[in-house]
Amino acid sequence: MARKKTVFSCTQCGFQSPKWLGKCPDCNQWNTLIEEQPVEQTNHSRALAAPGKPQKFSEITSREEDRLRCGIGELDRTLGGGVVPGSLILVGGDPGIGKSTLLLQATDQLAKQGTALYVTAEESARQVKLRGERLGVNTDNLYLLAETSLEQIKARIKELKPDFLVIDSIQTIFTSSIESAPGSVSQVRECTGQLMIQAKGDGLPTFLVGHVTKDGAIAGPRVLEHMVDTVLYFEGDPGHPYRILRAVKNRFGSTNEIGVFEMQEQGLREVSNPSELFLAERPEKSAGSVVVPSLEGSRPILVELQALVSSSSFGTPQRTAIGLDHKRVGLLVAILEKKVELSIAGQDIFLNVAGGVRLDEPAVDLGAIAALASSHLNKVVDPQTVLFGEVGLTGEVRAVSQPELRVKEASRLGFNRCVLPQSSLKNLDAPKGMQLIGVRHASEALDAIF
Ligand code: TYD
Ligand code: MG
Repeated sequence: MARKKTVFSCTQCGFQSPKWLGKCPDCNQWNTLIEEQPVEQTNHSRALAAPGKPQKFSEITSREEDRLRCGIGELDRTLGGGVVPGSLILVGGDPGIGKSTLLLQATDQLAKQGTALYVTAEESARQVKLRGERLGVNTDNLYLLAETSLEQIKARIKELKPDFLVIDSIQTIFTSSIESAPGSVSQVRECTGQLMIQAKGDGLPTFLVGHVTKDGAIAGPRVLEHMVDTVLYFEGDPGHPYRILRAVKNRFGSTNEIGVFEMQEQGLREVSNPSELFLAERPEKSAGSVVVPSLEGSRPILVELQALVSSSSFGTPQRTAIGLDHKRVGLLVAILEKKVELSIAGQDIFLNVAGGVRLDEPAVDLGAIAALASSHLNKVVDPQTVLFGEVGLTGEVRAVSQPELRVKEASRLGFNRCVLPQSSLKNLDAPKGMQLIGVRHASEALDAIF
């Protein structure tokens, strides 16, 4: 008898291989390949294509008003202005970060505009009810369904005809049409495929919860990123109450938009002015602390960068960067050493973005350089000064996007001096009481602040 064929799928990225490999060649993660039964690929895209003739672009109607607002401003902002009918939205994040809480609060609001169905495949309906009571959920149009079988869920949807659907979580539901265990790559993909056909076919906006898995046999949300319309990640440091909802893919809006929340006793509270929150505990007049106006999507946020440079007690100096890319930090340290002639490469270096925020844009380079220099020289940066600019390998300071938004936000929060790239100064009007200092090189910036 012929041996039954199996495939090995990566639980992180979905890569498939006919044989087992220790390291996934696609996402470079170790020990993530697991054995599965191969699945006949259903052609979801074919099922989606309605028979018809080509339509003129100009004749197809689209209306921005079709978007449904969730009533949670920060979530609407991250989605690009609300939920698009028929869209499939994946909300990923670490276990315990608050995904279920966020979606329960969102469905509570959405249920005011139509019938919402919250499928809880992890907790019992009673548990969700208890949590809902604490969150003040109180709508007649919100239905809970504790179910893990996709076929059952689809049958209940046919009966109830909800206007919104939440599946919490995609890794715990399964379809009997394939053999693999719930949570395996093929199950998660197949279930998502079927839910996508339903979402597009019935115009039913669907939220999927996906836990980020470190390793093991459960497929992570990355496996699904290419299948869904929108991918939101809910991030935050478990030690901090702040949570950031970040759009990493959005077919209906810009990515890089973020929503800021604070986890409280009564659930998640929106933070509409995050700059004030992130700067609330700033130690003024201490060396190593610098404020940078960073741009998250279309929103400028002022955050505090903290650096600590101390003499190293070991042969190899330590480098720790929290909230910043550590490779980028290594590069900035090398620029300081070589181009600004500040000998810090042999020192232990710690950099931290206060409040558990993650900054990915190069515009924070100049701020990081200033924080490192400030700690190393033990000189305080004036607490009313902000800095931004990308720093190149020769130490040159390069222009960044949207300088006017950054300067305005700094001015709104009472800062009166801004060090920025000289080339960003063009066509930039200084807000009242704000002094703008254009610089061409990192060392010029340091001369300006010390
Ligand atoms: P949860 O939404 O269950 O996380 P996830 O679905 O992402 O796994 O949130 C769990 C955490 O949130 C839990 O540790 C407790 C905290 N929490 C609050 O602090 N306040 C609240 O009102 C709720 C509902 C949860
Ligand atoms: Mg949950």
